[in-house]
Amino acid sequence: MCGISGIISNANIAKKLLDSIQNLEYRGYDSCGMAILNSHGPIIRKNIGHVADVAEKELFLSMNGNTGIAHTRWATHGGVTPVNAHPHANCDGSIAVVHNGIISNYVKLREMLTKKRHTFLSETDSEVIPHLIEEYRKGGMPLESAFVAALKDIEGSYAVAMVAYEKPWKIFCGKHESPLIIGLGKNENYIGSDFNAFIEFTKEAVVMDDGEYAIVSNEGYAVKKIVNGAPVLKKVMHVEWDAEMSKKGGFPHYMLKEIYEQPETVKKALSISDASIQMLAQNVVSAERTYLTGVGTTFYAAQLGQYYFASEAGINVPAVSSDEFLENSAMAKGDFVLAVSQSGETYDTLRVLREAKNRKIRTAAIVNVIGSTMARLVDDVVMQGSGPEICVISTKAALAQVIILIRTALEAGVITGKLRVSEKKQKIKQLEALPQQISDFLNEHSGFVHNLAERQAHHHNWLFLGRGKYYPIALEAALKVKEVAYLHAEGMPAGFLKHGTIALIDDNLRSLVFIPSEKEEALYKMTMSAVEEINARGGKVIGIHSSKTFAKSKLLADQLLLPPAPPLVMPLMALVASQLFSYFLATTLDRNVDKPRALAKSVTVA
Ligand code: AGP
Repeated sequence: MCGISGIISNANIAKKLLDSIQNLEYRGYDSCGMAILNSHGPIIRKNIGHVADVAEKELFLSMNGNTGIAHTRWATHGGVTPVNAHPHANCDGSIAVVHNGIISNYVKLREMLTKKRHTFLSETDSEVIPHLIEEYRKGGMPLESAFVAALKDIEGSYAVAMVAYEKPWKIFCGKHESPLIIGLGKNENYIGSDFNAFIEFTKEAVVMDDGEYAIVSNEGYAVKKIVNGAPVLKKVMHVEWDAEMSKKGGFPHYMLKEIYEQPETVKKALSISDASIQMLAQNVVSAERTYLTGVGTTFYAAQLGQYYFASEAGINVPAVSSDEFLENSAMAKGDFVLAVSQSGETYDTLRVLREAKNRKIRTAAIVNVIGSTMARLVDDVVMQGSGPEICVISTKAALAQVIILIRTALEAGVITGKLRVSEKKQKIKQLEALPQQISDFLNEHSGFVHNLAERQAHHHNWLFLGRGKYYPIALEAALKVKEVAYLHAEGMPAGFLKHGTIALIDDNLRSLVFIPSEKEEALYKMTMSAVEEINARGGKVIGIHSSKTFAKSKLLADQLLLPPAPPLVMPLMALVASQLFSYFLATTLDRNVDKPRALAKSVTVA
């Protein structure tokens, strides 16, 4: 995925345009560029590297003009090179285009355009767009019609923005399956892949739908249908997020800031109306089958949800990773699909939901980003209200999703009769105590976590093990370590170890084991078997646990002691601890914490 933005104003836009792609950088950051119109046409400057570096190298701030577009890239077609960076131009340089998405028929289009003597400079799919527009213009079509004709020619997904020499007071943009939003300011307007593009400038926005294009000037905007040019009346949204929420606020990294925001995000998730949660629970219970889905971290959140539905409601609600869903699950009418997504734009998860819609299956989603494709696609949406999550690594959003799933499982438990109302209330109280417990843990224990990470960061190979609810926690903790610290960490059920992987145990492999409290006797004993087995083979165990007596055990080579908490919320404390552990591993190893290599905040491609 990439980030696109555009600004049109009666003042010079260079600084604001730079700010806008800087605020979108988490969407992709291998290269970037800006095109600003001056009296000769669009001036394009672009290069590889992070936005701040490219801005300095290419002197973005010395650019001058009132209309411009910008792009920050996460490469799909064509390597990370200056020519592959966006914006792309047509042959005579009068048109500049930025694109987010994938054009599946670009090879055919490029061949056709090459035969018509268009010269391509890059290896990207996106470059066909300015040339297509140019081709239609040569045939005598007005610019707007040429832009729309080009959009009709391209297959796949796109959010596209164009500026052109002949219409210096307009930005043309259109979308299909990639997000695009218009921001409304005073004497200036904006476009962006998401609100962060213009959150510093306005809170009024219009969310574009698939199959729409818009012409934006500094005084207004017009949205029309790509298929027939019919005008579309759009609702103006007021965005609650403010610019401050998107800033680091004294923390060295967004990741740390967002970990520390978790007491607040848990409170927000707990303040979601009972009616919304009951609606989800009713759908889960009354469906023939319910599937939970998400991918990466959100799959692990969904998987944790599966365990809570089993323990609290006594029902089997399988979690299926959305990238494999359609190939391994036979959803049919009468089923219910509940998706989980921070961005609401993830291709794999959207693919499942779109197919569910085709099959007339009821859908719902727990989503963080307001106005996102998923939020608008599903039958019912629960907005998790976690605020902007800027770090590419998901932390606070994932915890909030789990809280919402637990609340839904508790509600489902009341419906199925597994829980009495009084039991549900007691468990909700335990959730309500969590923000304070997380706060205390972060304030009192982060030093210990830091020290542990510093002691252990030189180990390159890890097993992360847990049983029961600690299994998805182990998977998520391992993913965090891979993503942000670039260490090899394999998450696995602790019981699975003895079925093969145990052959790897030696003095060099570190095993991080999530050990439940002795109160969960069966789970505790089973987890301890794995701890014993590792020790018996000369392996080293790092324990994350909450038992003061166990803290003295010789079975642990190192450990992280958590404050005590009831079994319902203990896995969540372990989750927070593991987030902090991965953060400190990453800082110890001097990694790029907020923008780890090769990642993007939401993956909008197949
Ligand atoms: C999280 O740290 C990851 N970067 C990634 O696994 C992410 O959770 C996944 O791509 C799903 O994204 P979504 O929540 O925006 O749908």
